[in-house]
Amino acid sequence: MNIGPYRFENAVFAAPMAGVSDAIFRRLAITYGASLAVCEMVSANAMLYESSKTRWRLKHLDDNTVRSVQIVGHDPFMMAQAARLNVDDGAQIIDINMGCPARKVCNKLAGSALLIDEPQVERILDAVVNAVNVPVTLKIRTGTNPRQRNGVRIAQIAQRCGIKAIAVHGRTRACRFKGDAEFDTIRQIKQAVALPVIANGDIDSATKAREVLDYTGADGVMIGRAGQGAPWIFEQITAYLNDKKIVGDPGVDERGQLLLSVLEQMYRLYGEYSGVRRARKHISWYTKGIKGSNEFRKNVNVVESSAQQFKMTDEFFKTQVAIARIAA
Ligand SMILES: Cc1cc2nc3c(=O)[nH]c(=O)nc-3n(C[C@H](O)[C@H](O)[C@H](O)COP(=O)(O)O)c2cc1C
Repeated sequence: MNIGPYRFENAVFAAPMAGVSDAIFRRLAITYGASLAVCEMVSANAMLYESSKTRWRLKHLDDNTVRSVQIVGHDPFMMAQAARLNVDDGAQIIDINMGCPARKVCNKLAGSALLIDEPQVERILDAVVNAVNVPVTLKIRTGTNPRQRNGVRIAQIAQRCGIKAIAVHGRTRACRFKGDAEFDTIRQIKQAVALPVIANGDIDSATKAREVLDYTGADGVMIGRAGQGAPWIFEQITAYLNDKKIVGDPGVDERGQLLLSVLEQMYRLYGEYSGVRRARKHISWYTKGIKGSNEFRKNVNVVESSAQQFKMTDEFFKTQVAIARIAA
């Protein structure tokens, strides 16, 4: 599938996730086969009046990948400005967030709250597309609430404005993360527009990715939560979509090595204080489901030094590897 001049052989995308899809997360996703990993959203406002959180979000490591930066906001002029600044800073794709239900964002009629105001959607898309000479993509939910699923009309507006691809999370704004994602609206959107459509929502395995692609006719899939602490899902999905090859989950040894390398990168990127705190959710994700991990998480989550956090994690996985060897 193409987004403007960029061709993606495997249309498996890593979703933007605020507080998660930082440079470290994105690099891992790409290493495991994601075609593109979108940055966490940055507010157009913050972009223009730079905050330190925004700087972290915009931090890019030396990747050999296409850099897609997501912006969120309600004012067409500011969104256009933010898009321009990001392109000047190296963004190769600008992604517009009209999918986020977070109150912090929606109070200002931004993110998915904008879906209710179709003329404003059009003004924003027009302004951003005309402001930059790189492809602009859009991420939406299926509508405002289950009685008002206007995703098809939004996609048609997007197409008219020159948006180059649209990612659709199969829930409405009102649904937040409740219930199951639905794929009927995504299928309707695919039938209604010619631009590439990327299906998103609850895709947590290679077989589910295949089913969603078959049902919706979408051009690609976008994976969010299932990639947290499990970057290998991108390899599993691409292998299955390409050759029907089943790739299993890595063993506890590989999982541990991967987590330790994430921790090291966290300390390097964010420093001692923030690195330790940000690392905690990764430790939770990577140890989820491992016997005895509840107790371990309780203990490691109160630790304040990177050296101690790293050592405890290392020891936990060494013990797990030994247990696995004895059991084998
Ligand atoms: C922690 C978290 C942060 C998110 N942040 C963003 C964001 O910054 N921009 C956005 O468009 N969507 C954001 N989302 C939504 C995801 O991109 C995705 O649409 C949603 O999680 C559904 O996909 P999934 O079921 O594969 O997780 C976020 C989701 C989560 C769980």
